[in-house]
Amino acid sequence: MNEDFKAMLWGGAILLSAELLYWRLRRGLPGFRPRWLFHLWAALTATTAAVAVDSHLSTDHWTFKLAATAAILLGALIFFAILDAAVLGRPRATGLGPRVPKLVRDVLRILLLVAFFLVAATQVLGLQLSAVLVSSTVLSAVIGLALQDVLGNVFAGMALQLEQPFAAGDWLEIDGTLARVMEMTWRATRLRNNDGVDLIEPNASMAGARLVNYGSGEVPVGFNFHVGVSYSAPPAAVKAALCEAALQVRETATSPPPQAFVEGFGDHAVLYRMRVWTRAVSSSVIFRDAVYSRIWYQLQRRGLEIPFPIHTVHLHPSAAEPPQQEAAIESKARLLARIDLFKDFDPERLRRLAQQARRELYDHGEKLVREGEQGDSLFVVDTGRALVTRSGPTGATTAIELAVLGPGDFFGEMSLLTGEPRSATVSADGSCTVLVLAKDAMEPLVKEDPELAAALSRVLAARRLDLEHRLEDRRARGTHEQLATEASLLQRIRGFFKLG
Ligand code: CMP
Repeated sequence: MNEDFKAMLWGGAILLSAELLYWRLRRGLPGFRPRWLFHLWAALTATTAAVAVDSHLSTDHWTFKLAATAAILLGALIFFAILDAAVLGRPRATGLGPRVPKLVRDVLRILLLVAFFLVAATQVLGLQLSAVLVSSTVLSAVIGLALQDVLGNVFAGMALQLEQPFAAGDWLEIDGTLARVMEMTWRATRLRNNDGVDLIEPNASMAGARLVNYGSGEVPVGFNFHVGVSYSAPPAAVKAALCEAALQVRETATSPPPQAFVEGFGDHAVLYRMRVWTRAVSSSVIFRDAVYSRIWYQLQRRGLEIPFPIHTVHLHPSAAEPPQQEAAIESKARLLARIDLFKDFDPERLRRLAQQARRELYDHGEKLVREGEQGDSLFVVDTGRALVTRSGPTGATTAIELAVLGPGDFFGEMSLLTGEPRSATVSADGSCTVLVLAKDAMEPLVKEDPELAAALSRVLAARRLDLEHRLEDRRARGTHEQLATEASLLQRIRGFFKLG
């Protein structure tokens, strides 16, 4: 057979097989990316094979050697690309990243290229292996010394990638700073803190540092809160108050629930520790602030004192105390007098009511009354505002806003007067102070004054209608219905308070 024809046949067959292989790979391996590189490799391989087969052509010419070396190196890259798409770079079963981290794959690619280069250098370029190795050893020593730090970081990065003590998206505490892992490069790990500032931490120092990994927020983590509470407060009551305070914070996870423990007895206070779980790992400062603030309000309302580190000095009863109490009662009575419900009360009755009223402070967002819960107290807003909301129809995620109540407004009359569960949720809109009137305080008044029951039932009926309208959008109802509601409510109020 003619030599030229044989060479062409070989070259053509190799090119055709390579292109068929390309077509197969593109269809079968979605992660296989090389395009032009593959065609270049196919063309180079086919040409060098054709030249090698054709005995008329010399394989000693430098152009042939160069082309063959290029074909071998490109072959290494193509081989690695196939391995990468088929095995190494495939997504993990968990769906989180590839099976082998990118940094490790990059290093493997370079090692493969070096191995193929050694083959090409000895087999094609005709260099002595020992000469190549010696020169490459000397070269690596020189490069190694010059790039000591960089290589240290690269290997630390590979170790981190293999061990995976953290992943992109995790929140790490490093040297007391909380920052989120953004990406890992050959040399460094890029983190971003809550001030939006990027921290570039060399991989070697990341590998050596003591890191606290809070995760990405998918799984709750526990934060500890330390509080000292007065020796006079029973631990069970304190623990209940602490857990209730934590549960008031929106970001607190309910499972696992908050847990409080007595940790010891301090100089001025019993020391408590509470562990609260949250997914809000990114805003731990805000979360801590919210929990500590709620603890203060909750303990304050329950009369549980936080004495540490303040020295509480007990004075002997002095003349200063009664006027203070007196002033508090006066101010409560003044507030009650401003309320329509009690406007006809004579000063003595108002005073009696004020004596029984408790002043409570709430932080923004705290719930004073929860829809569906049992309750038997009436609240009068003293300062600040309270927001009345109600859950929407089944399936709706947002609550319906019913009213914003300000100083002098009252709420909680529905459950107090009828014994039914709370019809709505009322939460503090900014900090707010309220007067709380328990059923025991209201009952004698309602019994004494039938007009009070009637006045209450009027407000109650109006609010209830408003509630129904908002919920069911039945605006067509008229005064008839309001009167009917009032009458039936009055009857129920009489029944509840056992009035004649
Ligand atoms: P109660 O049901 O005891 O607890 C929730 C309180 O929200 C309720 O009493 C009322 O005082 C108040 N409330 C309910 N509906 C309205 C409304 N439409 N407008 C103003 N306040 C309301």
